[in-house]
This record gives sequence, C-alpha cells and structure tokens, in this order.
Amino acid sequence: QLSVEEMEERVARVKQKLGARLFIPGHHYQKDEVIQFADATGDSLQLAQVAAKNKEAEYIVFCGVHFMAETADILTSDEQIVILPDMRAGCSMADMAEIEQVERAWPILQQLFGDTILPLTYVNSTAAIKAFVGLHGGATVTSSNAKKMVAWAFTQQERIFFLPDQHLGRNTAYDLGVPLEQMAVWDPATNTLQYEGDVQKIKVILWKGHCSVHENFTVKHIEHIRKTKPDMKIIVHPECSWEVVQQADDAGSTKYIIETIANSPAGSKWAIGTEMNLVNRIIQQHPDKEIVSLNPYMCPCLTMNRIDLPHLLWALESLHEGKVVNRITVPNDVAEGAMLALERMLARA
Ligand code: 13P
Ligand code: SF4
Repeated sequence: QLSVEEMEERVARVKQKLGARLFIPGHHYQKDEVIQFADATGDSLQLAQVAAKNKEAEYIVFCGVHFMAETADILTSDEQIVILPDMRAGCSMADMAEIEQVERAWPILQQLFGDTILPLTYVNSTAAIKAFVGLHGGATVTSSNAKKMVAWAFTQQERIFFLPDQHLGRNTAYDLGVPLEQMAVWDPATNTLQYEGDVQKIKVILWKGHCSVHENFTVKHIEHIRKTKPDMKIIVHPECSWEVVQQADDAGSTKYIIETIANSPAGSKWAIGTEMNLVNRIIQQHPDKEIVSLNPYMCPCLTMNRIDLPHLLWALESLHEGKVVNRITVPNDVAEGAMLALERMLARA
C-alpha cells in the first residue's frame, strides 16, 4: 500500500518524464488529489475547447467522466490517445438516454410534429446520441452556452427536442421566454409524451432525465437558508429543478458560479447548489467570504470521484511502461455525426 505522498511523487515523476507528450484535463468536480495534477481545469465547455485545440499531446489522460473523454476523442486526431483512468466513471444523467430509446421516440415525434423539431443534446450524453443529433441538424450544448444554443435552435425550427436533462432544458427555455405550458416531457420508459391539451402548442420537448447530484438541492433547503441566514445569497447550477432555480438568487454553469463568487466583495455570503468537490474548493479559495453548500450533507458526484490518485497513478505508470490502459475510442462513423453537433456548438460558443 503506497502512501499519498509516494503516489503524488510517482505521478509527478511520470508527468515530468512524459512532458508535452502527456496532457491531463481535469473537470472542476474532480477531487483535489487529482486536480492538482491537471494541466488544464475547466467546465465541460472549456475542456471540450482545450481538447479541440491540443494537437501536440500523444496521450490525453482525462480526469472527468466518460462522455467528456468521448468528446475529447472525437475532437482530437486519430493518433492522439484518450484515456479515462477508471472506466466506471460514467454519468448517471448520460445513462438516462440510450440511443435505442431516442430512435424509438423520434418517429413518434415526427408523426406529431412533422419536420418542425430540432434535436439538441446536453454534452452529458453518449457519442451515439450526439451523432443522432448532429445528423438531424442539431447541436450539443453545455450549461455555459445553453441559452445561446437554444436561442439558435429556435432560429432553425419551431420546436426543440432537448436531451437528456429536463431541468437544463426547462430552465433555459423558460429563461428565453417559453412558458411552462408550452413544454412537455418525453418519457422514454413508456415511449410517450406527457402532455394534456393541444399538442401543437408545444415548443419544447424535454427528455425525462436528470442529474442525481443536483436533484439533491431542494426548495426546502432554500427555505431553510432564507430562515436561518436571510442575508445569504443562493446560487445554483441549472441542472437543479425549475422550482429551485426560480427561488435561488442566481443560477449558472460551473464556470459562472466560480466567477460570480470570485467577483463578489469580501464578506459576501453564499449558499451554493452544486457538486461537493467544487463547493469545498470554492470555500477554501475564499476565506474572506462565508460560503456553505445549499444542502448541508454536501453532494458528491460519485462517478466523478471514481477518478482518484491510485487510478491516475495506474494509468500514468502504465503509459510510462508502454501500456495503454482504458483507452476511449469512438468509432469513426459515430464520431463523424457527433462532430457535426459539436462543431455547431463550438462555432457559437
Ligand atoms: P458544466 O461543467 O457544464 O457546468 O456541467 C456540470 C456537470 O454536471 C458536468 O458533468
Ligand atoms: Fe453526471 Fe450529474 Fe455527475 Fe455531472 S454531476 S457527471 S451530470 S451525475
């Protein structure tokens, strides 16, 4: 059993030996023990952008979750090798939409709405779903550019089909002025649209998916803060429910939350509704501010946490010994379609 110090030393050694041949992107939700070794940190949009730009690294050891590593593989050249240090680092939200379910839903939606729907998918989805969306004229979105992308989608079509996060879709469309009555949920379990009334009034079809981390922030938590800390501001990620976003003082992507708190004056008080590793890091970075998690039990993303120091060390030392482990490869035919969806986003992001 290696000590933490030994593992850190060995990771640093391999990093130094591989030099520019190695690139480690790290998502803001990653553990401190991992993020300290990241060559670039960011939210999902920033990490997609750095992957698209990096032409030098032979190995991209992605510290994030599976769909992010797939995106990196799509955006980098065939020669560049993308590695996910633990294959169990998935995303429960991305798992809520399977391509077979989307392919079953689409003909029914077309029967209802003809050719008036444009699919959009949150990047938190499989490469196969990105390809489906790309081949049907749509684009990917992240929480940082969702508003811009949904607004763009409405310049292309009358309706949008938003996958797989109903909350990000609902919050974004509502922000753009679409009333809740014009939104309906598509339930993949029953392959039906949940809506009463005139179906032709629907402007936004929301896939019934959610983030199991962000659903842990509730209106009750907001009420508790309002009662116990009336001068504290509440900021949440738009993967939280519509009710929570409406009652919070502010909402935005990971990057937006980090910047908003950094730009607030000393003495500011914040309750944050997002992933635990990030909230803890923000707390440490701002000792001059009073910051708490909106949910006092904190909310870790268990799959993000599967990337830990031992897995990072294992992936790196394997590389150093000439062994590629846990390579993420998206087949070329899928990657081509997914690229269309990603490029439409990156061109506007
Ligand atoms: P962003 O990085 O786009 O804010 O998304 C948060 C998230 O859930 C990543 O999985
Ligand atoms: Fe997926 Fe939610 Fe974890 Fe992000 S925080 S990776 S959406 S489960």
